[in-house]
Amino acid sequence: MPREVVDSASGLGVVILAAGQGTRMRSRLPKVLHRIAGQPMVQYVLDALSGWVDTKPILVVGHGADQVQSALGEVVIYALQQPQLGTGHAVLQARSALEGQCDTVLVLYADMPLLSSDTLRSLVGLHRAQSEPVTMLTCVREDSMGFGRILRDSAGLVTAIVEEAQATPAQLAIRELNPGVYCFNSRWLWDHLPRLPLSPKGEYYLTHLVGLAVSEGHIVQGIAVADATETFGINTRVHLSHAENIVRQRIREALMLSGVTLLDPDSTYVETGVTVGRDTTIYPNTHLQGRTHIGEECHIGPNSIIRDSTIGHRCRLLASVVEEAQLEDDVSVGPFAHLRKDAYLASGVHMGNFGEIKNSRLGPGTKMGHFSYVGDAQIAADVNIGAGTITCNFDGAQKQTTIIEEGAFIGSDTMLVAPVRIGKRARTGAGSVVTRDVPPGSVVYGVPARPKKTAGQ
Ligand code: UD1
Ligand code: CA
Repeated sequence: MPREVVDSASGLGVVILAAGQGTRMRSRLPKVLHRIAGQPMVQYVLDALSGWVDTKPILVVGHGADQVQSALGEVVIYALQQPQLGTGHAVLQARSALEGQCDTVLVLYADMPLLSSDTLRSLVGLHRAQSEPVTMLTCVREDSMGFGRILRDSAGLVTAIVEEAQATPAQLAIRELNPGVYCFNSRWLWDHLPRLPLSPKGEYYLTHLVGLAVSEGHIVQGIAVADATETFGINTRVHLSHAENIVRQRIREALMLSGVTLLDPDSTYVETGVTVGRDTTIYPNTHLQGRTHIGEECHIGPNSIIRDSTIGHRCRLLASVVEEAQLEDDVSVGPFAHLRKDAYLASGVHMGNFGEIKNSRLGPGTKMGHFSYVGDAQIAADVNIGAGTITCNFDGAQKQTTIIEEGAFIGSDTMLVAPVRIGKRARTGAGSVVTRDVPPGSVVYGVPARPKKTAGQ
């Protein structure tokens, strides 16, 4: 397809159909909210429109409308289709929002996550370069995936689209398919949609508009998409897994081309929107999810899950789970560490094996080597947290805070019964149960911990 791209898409209205039940997904979740590389599939369609379409798309919703609306919010305008009487009827629901607002209407289905914005822009550009009422994409593919067939006459002109369920054996053999992306002259569309005939299945098929235009003497251009993977439509969870593979592979390739080493791309799972800095190496079986951002020259994995977290430069993370946490530069974590919501590790922190941190800040250079739980704590710089230290942060009713000041030394197996404060450079003996604040520079030990008497006291 020629890459004739429109400079401005003003005057363009977009209708995305998402009201169908998606029966073949066999799911309570509306089809368009099923996730691909971490994003609802409809988000990919919205992404392909963003940056060049300056009007909000109209999303036609029906089945699971509430769920779709709460998942997507205000990024689209909703049109409700109730009941769902087919794709033609669905587009009609966008009429009140669009009529008189635009000269061209682009219609596409929400279950096509692999479409590129280049393809959509080319279609709009070609449609606008001539004066026919309908222009559409087609694709040529061996696997029909249930798509409608494109019928052409002996001169090669498109005459109609026939649905797979209604196709004759000869028509079924046609390999040129209807991906379901169309550009219409706005006035013609609103004029003709109400005239669609009822199909044998009791629906109004948008695809009938093609035959209708041809019967009026118009020429419908069917433009074959160069890369047929773009026109992949999701009807089942098998299709979903194929799309998942394709999107993940695109993400991995983009990462590698941007300077990230993936030791085993196939076992590296990176969601859409994750960023990774140059010269970072990602080891096998690592999952980078949600709003995760990783700096340069890090070593991440193997066997790690990072979700909604920010990791600085030169960090090492081995066999660990990191959720909604933040790491500054030069932090090392793991193996077998768990960072939970609002864990913040300042630069140079070392967190070794079997540790857990939640809603706590560890200051620069602080070390927590082995088997510790730190929750609801503020820990300053250069603190040593001995093996087996626990912040007893829950008194049965409320979460309480532990404060540890700079340079303190927490002996192995210390229980810090919060609320409690350990002063600057104070020390706790191994096995202490600290129930009261420890003054700066002092030493406590025992159960409950009491000050160590020095000579002369
Ligand atoms: C449709 C096309 C078919 C095309 C295929 C490509 C028609 C009649 N057929 O078939 O030619 O090859 O897509 O994927 O258009 N929807 C509504 N309201 C409805 C019915 C459907 O909003 O009443 C939405 C669905 O949510 C979905 C899209 O329209 O996003 C397509 O519906 P679907 O049932 O998947 O159509 P296909 O049978 O795949
Ligand atoms: Ca479909």
